[in-house]
Amino acid sequence: MCGIVSYLGDKEAYPILIEGLQRLEYRGYDSAGVALLNKSLQVFKKKGKVSDLQAFAADKDLKASLGIGHTRWATHGEPNDVNAHPQFSTNGRVAIVHNGIIENHSTLRKALIELGHVFTSETDTEVLAHLIEEYLVNFNLSLESAVQRALTKIVGAFAIVVLDEENPDLMVGARRSSPLVVGLGDNEFFIASDATPIIKYTNRVIYLKDDQIVAIDRNGYKVTNAENKTQQVKIKELDLKLEELEKGGYDHFMLKEIFQQPATVKEAMRGRINSMKAFVTVGGIQVNLNKIKNAQRFIIIACGTSWHSGLIGEYLFEELARTNVEVEYASEFRYRNPIIGEGDVVIALSQSGETADTMSALKLAKDKGALIYGIVNNVGSTISRMSDSGSYIHAGPEIGVASTKAFTSQVTVLTLMALHLAYEKGTIDVDYFRRILVELEHIPSKIEKILKVDAQIQLIAKEFQHIKNALYLGRGYNFPVALEGALKLKEISYVHAEGYPAAEMKHGPIALIDENMPVVVIATNVAAYEKILSNIQEVSARKGKVIAIVTEGDVEIKKLADYVIEIPTTIDPLTPLLSVIPLQLLAYHIAVLRECNIDQPRNLAKSVTVE
Ligand code: G6P
Repeated sequence: MCGIVSYLGDKEAYPILIEGLQRLEYRGYDSAGVALLNKSLQVFKKKGKVSDLQAFAADKDLKASLGIGHTRWATHGEPNDVNAHPQFSTNGRVAIVHNGIIENHSTLRKALIELGHVFTSETDTEVLAHLIEEYLVNFNLSLESAVQRALTKIVGAFAIVVLDEENPDLMVGARRSSPLVVGLGDNEFFIASDATPIIKYTNRVIYLKDDQIVAIDRNGYKVTNAENKTQQVKIKELDLKLEELEKGGYDHFMLKEIFQQPATVKEAMRGRINSMKAFVTVGGIQVNLNKIKNAQRFIIIACGTSWHSGLIGEYLFEELARTNVEVEYASEFRYRNPIIGEGDVVIALSQSGETADTMSALKLAKDKGALIYGIVNNVGSTISRMSDSGSYIHAGPEIGVASTKAFTSQVTVLTLMALHLAYEKGTIDVDYFRRILVELEHIPSKIEKILKVDAQIQLIAKEFQHIKNALYLGRGYNFPVALEGALKLKEISYVHAEGYPAAEMKHGPIALIDENMPVVVIATNVAAYEKILSNIQEVSARKGKVIAIVTEGDVEIKKLADYVIEIPTTIDPLTPLLSVIPLQLLAYHIAVLRECNIDQPRNLAKSVTVE
């Protein structure tokens, strides 16, 4: 949700900012802009992608070793050149890039207009540029103090970087609720939304905390808080590699990430499981074992794809560890005055670790005394730092906006957690426990096998590339997979799709079925096989086209379905790790055939840092 990058050093800033913005484009791609400071402040911005900005700026004088850049996901004001960031103050002295939302912007705007400020954009961000200018000019404050003072007036979330034309060797950054990281190179400094634009130059970073302000000049950096007290900071050394941020020969990041899943699922299990020794341990559970083992209830909070893996977590925790679990949309949970107490464990499930709704729900639960367990991919992200305990899913950077490998890694970690708890609580039969462990270790090679039928899935996609609607059905563990399959199709090919519990079809969606309605049925469940068979018959009787995901060697469903994709046999609780793969590939190929933008689907952003 908006990406920020800024540079101060001895190199040319512009190419570094452009490359950084390209890496951040997954956060938003409505417009892009840079401000360069070399004696005077030059601002270049353009509606559209970073490539549009590059074309626009190609013949401009771009010399500067200090600059800020922004890629936008529009909230206030439509995506156009004027609303693009950087935003600037009335006299053009202050330029600012911002990620977040200033909730009291209209009150501030009115007050600033009365003071004579002239606004040009519809953005909430612009008020900050004017406010900072007000403190610089009329209160004669330093840039750092002006930013500090201005931020005391702000209600909302922000990560900002500010330049002042009269301070040509200084950049000031600050954050509240939105992420900001400072990169420390050799005679050069960076401030960015995440480490992806920085890692090419340095792996030494500082994650700013809420209400911290960093001022960077050519001699170094200083971090203060809102009361102007100098802050001690921790420098982290990241082990992120540049290759992890490249497509590595694939046409799209999404395809690369789908194909990475044998490796990423293995990575999620590394060091946590040993079937020979019948052993599972999840560090985050171990450090708070008593509280977690004796929890009255688990509440899983998440959004989007993470919410779908949370639903699978519910089935796993209930079946294996016999615990109460509720799965909540973070955005709904926090506005309901939920009943949470000290005996509850709240699991915040988030790929990015920065989703605003999940963070707010987590804060609420923390204030009410629950233990917070973060399951996160992005190392060092805000949710990981806010949690009492937690587990990284270790999927590596996920860049395609539609989440794929993070989903399977989240489900893997939730499975390990359920098993660890089940073992500790004695709620699982020893033989079954061992069987699941052995089977889990085979999952990566089984995913690999499914990836080999990619060409067959591509052919099915060809048949369905022009569809207008699709229905996805699944039962038990495969119901959340049906939701996830439908979401993938919606997100990247803009086809209306709905996921449903197969049996619920009779209570509504069956009315939609005719010869134009493809129905994807996940029909692998051993337990409900007969039932799912009837559901397929019900669809076929109404001339719906059935694409069935079946277990290898299936005979019955093959006779009924129009198209069949086989997946290897596994035990019920592990099925989602396999059955979701063909659905990811199906959505991918349909979107490619429809010539959609796979990695940057319209209106979406990878990391939703506004509520
Ligand atoms: C956005 C992304 C989704 C993601 C959701 C939750 O909508 O486009 O892919 O599932 O946010 O994100 P999180 O980072 O919290 O898992």
